[in-house]
Amino acid sequence: MCGIIGIASKKGALRKPLGEVIREALKRLEYRGYDSVGFAVVNELGVLFIRKSKGKIDDVQAKLAFNEFDGVSGVGHTRWATHGPPSDVNAHPHTDCSGRVAVAHNGIIENYASIREWLAGRGHRFVSETDTEVIPHLIEEFKRGGAGPYEAFKAAVARLKGAFAIVAVDADAPGYVFFARNTSPLVLGFGEGANFVASDIPAFLPYTNRVMVLRDWEVGYLTPDEVVVEELMPGEDGVEANRVSLRVRVIEWTPQMAMKGGYPHYMIKEIHEQPQAIAATLAGLPDQVGAVAEALKHADKVVLIGAGTSYHASFLGALALTNIAGLLAVPVIASEARWYLRGLREGDVVIAVSQSGETIDTLLAVREARKRGALTIAVSNVVDSAIPRESDMSIYTRAGPEIGVAATKTFTAQVVTLAYLAARAGNDARVIEALKELPDLAEAVIVESEPLARALAKVMAEKQSAFYLGRGPAYPVAMEGALKLKEVSYLHAEAYPAGESKHGPIALVEEGFPVVFTALSREDGGALVSNVEEMAARGAWRIAVAPRTLEEVLGRADVRFPMPPTSPWAAAALYVIPHQLLAYYTAVFRGYDPDKPRNLAKTVTVV
Ligand code: F6R
Repeated sequence: MCGIIGIASKKGALRKPLGEVIREALKRLEYRGYDSVGFAVVNELGVLFIRKSKGKIDDVQAKLAFNEFDGVSGVGHTRWATHGPPSDVNAHPHTDCSGRVAVAHNGIIENYASIREWLAGRGHRFVSETDTEVIPHLIEEFKRGGAGPYEAFKAAVARLKGAFAIVAVDADAPGYVFFARNTSPLVLGFGEGANFVASDIPAFLPYTNRVMVLRDWEVGYLTPDEVVVEELMPGEDGVEANRVSLRVRVIEWTPQMAMKGGYPHYMIKEIHEQPQAIAATLAGLPDQVGAVAEALKHADKVVLIGAGTSYHASFLGALALTNIAGLLAVPVIASEARWYLRGLREGDVVIAVSQSGETIDTLLAVREARKRGALTIAVSNVVDSAIPRESDMSIYTRAGPEIGVAATKTFTAQVVTLAYLAARAGNDARVIEALKELPDLAEAVIVESEPLARALAKVMAEKQSAFYLGRGPAYPVAMEGALKLKEVSYLHAEAYPAGESKHGPIALVEEGFPVVFTALSREDGGALVSNVEEMAARGAWRIAVAPRTLEEVLGRADVRFPMPPTSPWAAAALYVIPHQLLAYYTAVFRGYDPDKPRNLAKTVTVV
């Protein structure tokens, strides 16, 4: 939901014009939104330049001429439209009547209409359809009343309702970047001769790995050598703000992790990183899981909550907890959670699964679950993000930064984490042993399945629709396969529990219709044989991902991915790999950019 960056830098500290550094940072944030791009730079003489345009960074960079703008403070924005369609005028940053304040924003200002009306009544002129534009005008209004730039910024933020991460520069304060957060993510980066604030760490990773994740209602400013953070407490008679001590932590991510490293796209790089992501995640689990597994043993009900891919991991986690640990665990889609959470009470456990730790629906579900007395446990890939911070306990996956919009390595890391948790809660040493073999097996699966997935994708790219079928724990894997295909290649793909396919979906099947079968073990795969037969009888084009020992399924398929046999709870993380590769190559053959699927943003921070 939009990427934002703010930088305050001494002249020359970054060895490039500030505009160029902002462009590079925005490129690393492009996964968050990419329908428009813009930046503002203030030079040491207090002159403010704004350039912005509809379009992706690479397409509009010549027009925006980032490199021509140097200065001592600047902000940038890459947009995923909410209020107002993508256009040059709706692109951020937005400015006030005087053109001295520039603001970039991620989120939604819920009370923008009343603020806009009030400001219009005081003579402010608006040019865009965005909610954001009220912010620079509010700042201007408070400056007109005599406030200094930072005081005016705080006073403006205190008037806002909704979700926001805001960065601003002011021609009257060269070398300063102001920032504020409520709900939408914002992270500070502490560099040498330059300080940063951004929606996500990769934006500034080439310059620093010393970070501080901001909390709700924290505001502050950066200069090249100072960072000030305050907690804002809007009161009846103005704004109160208390200085907060800096919570700086050093993260292990390297700049290389946020680059493509020779791969054409982040998605394929991240698919290839899965062996390391699984190994690093497994290495971090023993220290994190003990108390959580103990708590689960005493749980009355367990509800796992996630959105999209994280919902599929939650689904697998629920099946693992039920089948390995004997708990009754159910998966719930985050945006639907409120309809289920009303049944929660003390003694129940909610596991919130979110790679970003910022998905708003999942966060709201955590808040609701806590209100109802349930114990909340977060599974996230981003340390200190909102969901772990607001949960009673947290487990972190260690997949490294995921930049492709489609989740790949964070999914396998989540699946491994939840299976490990279930194995610890159920004292099942065999599952833990199987999980330990996954890094090597994943490496082998990538090597063996990539050429076949690429060849298969050439044919798939010509199709219009596909079914993905599986039973038991293979069903969420099928769901994830279908989601990957549809979101990056724009082919229609639907997953069903295989037994359900006869109850309607099969009506669509005709000669050449693709059906992708997944089986993780003999237990779920045995019953799949009849479904493969039924589809064969209707001329379906059958693709199977199944243990190589499951000849009954593989032998009935037109295209076969024979997979290493292992525990189904480990297999889920492994057998999804051919699906990811098939989706990736299908998108490439269809001429789409798999890293930036249309209409999608990596982190969904609006309901
Ligand atoms: C799909 C995808 C999304 C996310 C979903 C939840 O490839 O990436 O469906 O899984 O938006 O995101 P997190 O895990 O950050 O809560």
